[in-house]
Amino acid sequence: MKIALLGIGTVGSGVREQLSACADIEVRRVLVRREIPELGSLATRAIDDILGDARIDAVVEVMGGEHPALEYVLRALRAGKDVVTANKLMLSEHLEELLEAARAGGARLKIDASVGGGIPYLFNLARAARTGGMQSLFGIVNGTTNLILDTMQVEGADFADVLAQAQRAGYAEADPSADIDGGDARAKLCVAAAVGLGAILRPADVDVAGIRTIALGDVRLFQQMRRVCRLLVRADRLDGDHLAACVEPTLVLPGDLEAAVHRNDNLIGYVERSAGLQYFFGQGAGKSPTAFNVVMGLRDLIDGAIDPLGAPLRRAEVDNSHLVRRYYVRTSAPLGVQAERIGEVGGAPAYLTEPLSADGMHAHARDLRKADPQLFFAGVRA
Ligand SMILES: NC(=O)c1ccc[n+]([C@@H]2O[C@H](COP(=O)([O-])OP(=O)(O)OC[C@H]3O[C@@H](n4cnc5c(N)ncnc54)[C@H](OP(=O)(O)O)[C@@H]3O)[C@@H](O)[C@H]2O)c1
Repeated sequence: MKIALLGIGTVGSGVREQLSACADIEVRRVLVRREIPELGSLATRAIDDILGDARIDAVVEVMGGEHPALEYVLRALRAGKDVVTANKLMLSEHLEELLEAARAGGARLKIDASVGGGIPYLFNLARAARTGGMQSLFGIVNGTTNLILDTMQVEGADFADVLAQAQRAGYAEADPSADIDGGDARAKLCVAAAVGLGAILRPADVDVAGIRTIALGDVRLFQQMRRVCRLLVRADRLDGDHLAACVEPTLVLPGDLEAAVHRNDNLIGYVERSAGLQYFFGQGAGKSPTAFNVVMGLRDLIDGAIDPLGAPLRRAEVDNSHLVRRYYVRTSAPLGVQAERIGEVGGAPAYLTEPLSADGMHAHARDLRKADPQLFFAGVRA
């Protein structure tokens, strides 16, 4: 198989290194946007050198971002070139269009590395989903936020210090918004919902809350409550056209599996009618694990293995009115819902609410944030 890499950053360079040991997969071109002398004649700045080269069978898109990655991948698929991508942002926003382009071009789209980095989650999710009995998906899918929450809890460190430390160590981006505001986790949830539940969600419809405003005082209160905070994603099948789907900080019990996920590891699971609860654990990001999953995608193309996007998909609406739980809310704004006051953080009261639906809580938090942008809330697992 002859391939081209679109982008050669963290994941792309890992793919190139791992392919140097594969006799049957050859990197013929690499799309770059600046001089990289060691690539020699492999490098090109012109996408047409790749898309117009009939000898290139497959394209590995590891440049990231929405544009121009989307346009390049659409053109590659329409030109009949298989595509392997780790780009959850592009996939979550444009899946239908991408699948249509793949159908039109008779090409395949492999997405295994887009959720869970090196964890073989999507592949196995697709395999299990063939029964039609997939009920829920959930877990910790963002390693950066898990690292922050875990370090705050274990070392008693401040959010800003831990974030700066994670940025210096290369675990967090210079602009950490996609991680700490939950957008990265939401994109992964949408990709997983397509694979596992056959549902195309609009990412903007998924209720999302991140950890940008969490304070060490909150974490100390969680410890008094004998709880551990984790950023969790969740999608549940409701009726045919509806899913519950949300991303939110959640206070789990110390004995729950999520509480034992430390540093930047991921834990992703599903519930299937017959298989019951199944979990996958491991490195959800990083050069080598993610590149490994990309290379496995290329191998799957060669071997004709199961395709995570092989089953028919339909559009689904989000309905979070049935996801009901108590919420921890810390805010200086008047809360406006039935709640017990349980402490104070930085002069702002902290409450435990009566049970509320997830859509109700997220809508209420959006209103409260107008008065108190520092508000933090988390669901409380019963
Ligand atoms: N890193 C991970 O652990 C991880 C895990 C799972 C999934 N992913 C996904 O994998 C993808 C790549 O991530 P990454 O961490 O490898 O990113 P990265 O280190 O920023 O690498 C991206 C590379 O693409 C190049 N690039 C960007 N736009 C380009 C353009 N228009 N033309 C040519 N080259 C372009 C960049 O060039 P410059 O060097 O010139 O900027 C860079 O070399 C993303 O979709 C990401 O979400 C990453």
